[in-house]
This record gives sequence, C-alpha cells and structure tokens, in this order.
Amino acid sequence: MPKDTLTITDNRTGKTYEVAIEHGAIRAVELRQIKTSPEEFGLMSYDPGYLNTASCKSTITFIDGDRGILHYRGYPIEQLAEKSTYLETAYLVLYGELPTRSQLEEWTYQITHHTILNENTKKLMDGFRYDAHPMGMFISTIAALSTFYPESKDIFDEQVRRKQIYRLIAKVPTIAAFSYRHNTGMPYAYPDNDLSYTGNFLNMLFKRTELKYKPHPVLERALDVLFILHADHEQNCSTSTMRLVGSAHTDPYCSLAAAAAALYGPLHGGANEAVLRMLAEIGSKDNVPAYIKRVKSGEVRLMGFGHRVYKNYDPRARIIKQTADAVFEVTGRNPLLDIALELERIALEDDYFVSRKLYPNVDFYSGLIYQAMGFPVEMFPVLFAIPRTSGWLAQWQEMLLDKEQKIGRPRQLYLGAGRRDYVPIEQR
Ligand code: SDX
Repeated sequence: MPKDTLTITDNRTGKTYEVAIEHGAIRAVELRQIKTSPEEFGLMSYDPGYLNTASCKSTITFIDGDRGILHYRGYPIEQLAEKSTYLETAYLVLYGELPTRSQLEEWTYQITHHTILNENTKKLMDGFRYDAHPMGMFISTIAALSTFYPESKDIFDEQVRRKQIYRLIAKVPTIAAFSYRHNTGMPYAYPDNDLSYTGNFLNMLFKRTELKYKPHPVLERALDVLFILHADHEQNCSTSTMRLVGSAHTDPYCSLAAAAAALYGPLHGGANEAVLRMLAEIGSKDNVPAYIKRVKSGEVRLMGFGHRVYKNYDPRARIIKQTADAVFEVTGRNPLLDIALELERIALEDDYFVSRKLYPNVDFYSGLIYQAMGFPVEMFPVLFAIPRTSGWLAQWQEMLLDKEQKIGRPRQLYLGAGRRDYVPIEQR
C-alpha cells in the first residue's frame, strides 16, 4: 500500500530517513535530522527567490499557473469580475464567505464612514515636493497613520483588528487621491458618502468646481472590476512582505506600508507603470520587431509579460483586455493599444517567449485603461495598491491566527571567510 512518505538515503552515511508528505510538501525542518555526525546542524533546503518553498498554509486564494486559474475562496475570478463588486469581493477575501445582504450593508457603511483622513495628514502630504512620486507619498502616509491609531498595536484583539481593516480599506483611496491632487496642484476633494467605493475615489480625484461630482457609470464599473482583479494573489512578493513584517507583530499600518513598498518595484506592481513607459518608448507598431530583438538579446525585459506562477495566460489579463473595450468606448481608443496588441501577437508566436512560457500578466493591459481614464503613469502602482490592501490584510490576519506561524527568520548558507584576527591598519 503506497504511503504518503518520502524515504531519503544519505549516501554520505548510508542512513535512510522517512519523512511525511502532507498537502504535496515535506516539512523542511525534517531535513535537519540528516547529519553525518551528531554535532552537525543538519541539512537545510536552499531556495533563492523561494521558487519552490511554501511559507504558509492558506485558504484565501488558489492559483493554478499551468491552467491559468485564479479563485478567491473558491470562486472563479471570472465570475467575481462579472457579478460581484470590489467591496463584496474584499469582504469575501477577508472573511471567507460572500456576505449576506445585511452583512454587506454593514460592511459598506463602515468602509464609507472611515474614508476621511485626520486633517494633520494633509500637513504631512503638503510637505512632499510638487513632483513627488505618488507611491512614495502613499507608502509614507500609510505608515504615518500608525501614529494616529496607536491602539492598532493590539493586533490580537479582533475588534481592534476589524476597526483597522475598515480604516485601511476606506482610507487608501483618499490617500491615493490626495497624492494625485498634490501632484496636480489641485485642492484636496473630500469623500462623498453618497457615492460607491470607486465612484467616490473618482470624485476625490477628478472633482472640479461642480457642487456634486457624477462619476461616469462605465468608468466607475471598469475601475471596480480592475479592483476585483487586483484584490489578492496568494504569496506574491508584497503579500509575503506583509506576512513577514506582520510576523514580528508590527501594527497593520507599518506592515502594509512595507507591503506597498515591495509592490512599488518594477518587477512587481510597478510593472504597470513600466509597461506604459515601454510602449511610449517603442512609439509605433513598426518599431515592435526591433524592440523584441532587444528583449531576446537580454538587453531589456518585455514588461507586463511573464510570471513566477502563471505559465499560461494570466486570467486577469484576459478580463482586463475585455474591460478595455468598454472604457475606450467612453474615453476614445488608447493609441498605445495597437503597439501592445502587436507586441502580444509577435511574442505569442516567438519561441523565445513560448519556450519560457511568457504570457501577458495583469500589468500588461491595465495601464492602457488607467491612462485612457486620465491617470498619469506614476499613479498606476497606487491603483494596484488600493485593491491589494484587502488581500494584504486578509493574509496578515490569516498569519496572525495561524497557530503554526512564528516570526519569520530564514537561515543562510554561509560561504564567507573563516575566523581570522583583526589586522592593524599599518599592516594592511
Ligand atoms: C505582478 O507574484 C505575483 O503573483 C505577482 C502579481 C500579483 O498579482 O501580485 O501577479 C503581480 O507582479 C505581475 C508581474 C509584473 N512584472 C512584470 O511584468 C515585469 C516583467 N516580468 C519579469 O521580470 C518576470 O517575468 C517576473 C519577475 C514576473 C517573474 O520572474 P521569475 O519567475 O523570477 O522568472 P525569471 O526572471 O527567472 O525568468 C525566467 C526566464 C529568464 O530567461 P533565461 O535566464 O532562462 O534565459 O524568462 C525570462 C528571463 O530572462 N523572462 C523574461 C521576462 N520575464 C522572464 N524575458 C523577457 N521579458 C520578460 N518580461
């Protein structure tokens, strides 16, 4: 009868070891028993970039990278994008079930009534240069919120956690919009509680002198779909950062600021900004073959392509591409779309990309929509961070409640100098 175990033979000693296989994995700590002598530390696994290491058990998001499948709490992303809203999806990601009508009403009420920022926050934001990158302002202001809510350190009190979750989900659009208004030299536009989550976000961004901002329903819905698609994505770089910083029992504001800092990187959430810069640099469809040549020579990367997990088309990219058509109906077609489509067409036929299983990811088309909606490229990573806030908080909370979790502290393979004595400067 086959057993769910692995038998390992250490050829240095001839000893064999049997370790349990659970959920398709072995516990790395089981390797520590494999030694050539009792005083040894024992074996470790070495996995730079964590290509094959599970850091946690989770019930939030499931990805099948080979088949291009993404589920939040078991619900296919395609169904949520079509039938749900971002706030409903955020509730699902955080609490595990779709909310009842009364739960959704209470959730929406709480988020809506926590959108205001303490007036002192404006003084902090006013201190940035006029051209400060909005992601730098976003990260700094999120961390600063920890000083307004010191009670958030009480992370094991469920009510305290829930209040901070309300505040963070509610305030990230306000911080993002204030950052944008700072960059454009416009006065801050305050939240309008009559509007939806994304409608209010558009209000705080684009309200001018009209008494009441009216969001365009197609753009409001398109942004809501984009927020649904970006809510969570299991143990990506920024979520792993949220979990690692949170494992030290840091408050959720500073932990989320760290996660947002990781997202800012051009290899991660900053890729949506990098894609638009790449398309602008290419300039026209005619220049695509030359750019592809530079990519294949290793000189540049095709930003918005490739993924650590997806070795098939990112299901989110497919939905975003469909959403783009609805947006362009309203805003007019983004001319850079033709360059993006030509890049995709060529890349999906070229063996360099096919052999490496490089497909468009979530960042390849999203920026085209954001630009068409009037956002400057610098805002794109911020537009990623807003919806990912619910995923970061869900993963942070799951980590805190996981009895197996403790402070994250990886080991290393030390290959440096052996012990040696200090050398006085005269003898160097
Ligand atoms: C996100 O993890 C997540 O879930 C992230 C995310 C989320 O929702 O949280 O999905 C969001 O971050 C999407 C990814 C956005 N980043 C980009 O679009 C930047 C461009 N893509 C890459 O740099 C790259 O594909 C990564 C970072 C996304 C993945 O990198 P890996 O898994 O470490 O792969 P790799 O760098 O080892 O590449 C494997 C091979 C290499 O070639 P060889 O050395 O084998 O010859 O593929 C090549 C790479 O050079 N390659 C690319 C490429 N991506 C990988 N070549 C050209 N262009 C690219 N974009």
